[in-house]
Amino acid sequence: LKTEALEKVAQAEDAKALQDVKVQYLGKKGPITEVLRGMGKLPKEERPVIGQMANDVREEISTAIDEKQTKMEEAALEKQLQEETIDVTLPGRPAQTGGPHLLTSLIEEIEDLFIGMGFEIAEGPEVEVDYYNFEALNLPKGHPARDMQDSFYITEEMLMRTHTSPVQARTMEQHKGKGPVKVICPGKVYRRDTDDATHSHQFTQIEGLLVDKHVRMSDLKGVLNAFAKQMFGEEREIRLRPSFFPFTEPSVEMDISCKMCGGEGCSVCKGTGWIEILGAGMVHPNVLEMAGYDPNEYTGFAFGMGPERIAMLKYGIDDIRHFYTNDVRFLNQFHKA
Ligand code: PHE
Repeated sequence: LKTEALEKVAQAEDAKALQDVKVQYLGKKGPITEVLRGMGKLPKEERPVIGQMANDVREEISTAIDEKQTKMEEAALEKQLQEETIDVTLPGRPAQTGGPHLLTSLIEEIEDLFIGMGFEIAEGPEVEVDYYNFEALNLPKGHPARDMQDSFYITEEMLMRTHTSPVQARTMEQHKGKGPVKVICPGKVYRRDTDDATHSHQFTQIEGLLVDKHVRMSDLKGVLNAFAKQMFGEEREIRLRPSFFPFTEPSVEMDISCKMCGGEGCSVCKGTGWIEILGAGMVHPNVLEMAGYDPNEYTGFAFGMGPERIAMLKYGIDDIRHFYTNDVRFLNQFHKA
């Protein structure tokens, strides 16, 4: 019995098999327990001898099982250690680095250009009161031109700003009728548009404002020309076309010459040779007056552009939604090393 049991211990290949052997030989229903239980029936003089033997056998089997178990555990640990060994000589995985969003970089680039021309940066709230978003910009309640900018109203008097022009109204007001004011206002704006390749219900704008004595339209043209050349290249020409904005008079739209232009079939300018970039004009006397400036003493110009549009033209991006869906494959292309 002992030999048989020890052999089985030696053969046991895993913890479960070992446990089975233990139950089989040392368990409550095992042969040794049975022998010990049957002791009462034995003649008196045999009892100590048999008892001693049974105990010795049990002891031996039990020791063998314990030893085997320890060995198995050691082997398992050894195996685990080997499997989990870290090869410190393997090359590391490069860390994924983030970077500024294309729009952020572009806005900073535009800001730098204007800071270089002496402009300061002004910011204002995205949730705006009707007065600064519309009224102070010569768009009284019920003015039809309000329809040009479909709005997200929060209450009757509050809305998500539809352009960054309210920052200009606020900045002028702070100067209490005394110039000069020379600011650009970057920021997010909101319009109730259905999103598609060229529309987004939220986008960004950068507007500029210069108010001083003797500011003329030629000053506007000079500043915009310098901007266009620095932004798109020295070879670019600009042209101003008459347009309408309630807060400027006269109002213009600025085009830059099309660099890609292969004539009639040009996909960028549709063969016209010109690409529209921004809106601008001379600050309307009503706007100056509402902000506390005397329009007989002060004049000014303002312009507004959409960084998304500029990025799309500069980098050949075909869908405005790329800016806002945060696909890193798109964004990573524009990270500067
Ligand atoms: N605020 C105008 C818009 O959002 C842009 C603009 C700004 C036009 C300043 C002229 C002068 O459409």
